[in-house]
Amino acid sequence: MKKVLVLTGGGDCPGLNAVIRGIAKRARREKGWEVYGSIEAFNGVFNEPQEIIKLTSKRTAGIHIKGGTILKTTNKSNPIKFPVTQPDGTVKFIDRSDELVKKLKALKFDAVINIGGDGSQRISKVLHDKGIPVIGVPKTIDNDLSATDVTFGFQTALQIATDSFDKLVTTAESHHRVMIMEVMGRDAGWIALHTAIAGGAEVCLIPEIPYDISKIVKRINGRYKKGRGFVNIVVAEGAKTKEGTITASAAEKGSEHVRLGGVAYQLSKQLKDAGCKAEIRETVLGHVQRGGSPIAFDRVLASLFGVKAFELVLEKKFGQMVAFRNNEYTSVTLEEATRDYHVVSKDSYMVRAAKGLGISFGD
Ligand code: F6P
Repeated sequence: MKKVLVLTGGGDCPGLNAVIRGIAKRARREKGWEVYGSIEAFNGVFNEPQEIIKLTSKRTAGIHIKGGTILKTTNKSNPIKFPVTQPDGTVKFIDRSDELVKKLKALKFDAVINIGGDGSQRISKVLHDKGIPVIGVPKTIDNDLSATDVTFGFQTALQIATDSFDKLVTTAESHHRVMIMEVMGRDAGWIALHTAIAGGAEVCLIPEIPYDISKIVKRINGRYKKGRGFVNIVVAEGAKTKEGTITASAAEKGSEHVRLGGVAYQLSKQLKDAGCKAEIRETVLGHVQRGGSPIAFDRVLASLFGVKAFELVLEKKFGQMVAFRNNEYTSVTLEEATRDYHVVSKDSYMVRAAKGLGISFGD
């Protein structure tokens, strides 16, 4: 029998289970293939005893509609920068990729399918360069991978953010308030920008366009003067002022990244300090954006990504990542997949069109 190992790494994302099921179902249509899953990304391979399960039809049946990942995940076990707690309590990051390669080779998998975002695909590239037959599948609600036009999870997060925004509008209107809603996205403003357009926000603040607080106060005052006394603001968690201030929660042990979150409160204070007299309320949407069942768009995208990933295995196109480009399911090299970060361009038509809809970016 030939064997393929599947794993999910980084943050969970609606659609992960649909990819897993897509791979397993497509593999079952070929004779002589078995699909396995490593629990909690590569920890399933590192751990003694190893945690590797067979993805039987019983395990994968109907999972495409479920959020999260049946294989579990972690963003604190990067094999290239593996966190090890020192006796004094500090954390040191070490490279365990050679150890991982040795373990994977001993397990004799014919292919490894790594489902994850930009960090996970960097891991895929290192493993492939060290002789492991890897295929990548792009995942992220942030939509920040440049090699694919879309990533699954983004549309679901956007729908959740838009539904939440709509609910906040009713309070803004009824109480004549300024409602600030903070969304995720790390250094990319895609969720915020799309939500602002879909919801009809007056102000949208994104990391790519640093804001000037006085411009936002002007916009708010302008709205109140016209007798339409309410304003809805969408702010991306990575948004910053022209002076470069960014809100980050305390660094987490074992995490390579600074955790973002709380910019809505910072913005609220900045508005009050700058003379905004209106009542302000803040909502930090947080992980609800990543939770629950994927919407139909993401189920389709993720299922087809899964099928495509297994077909790349059959074609022995290792060192590639599945991609959706120009309306086609295709693949790109892991090199290309990890080269650029896909962020909003301030000169793009989308930003100009948003301004045409009256949305202020505070620039
Ligand atoms: O990359 C996805 C994402 O949800 C970001 O939008 C967010 O900044 C981050 O992950 C949150 O990570 P965690 O789940 O570790 O708090």
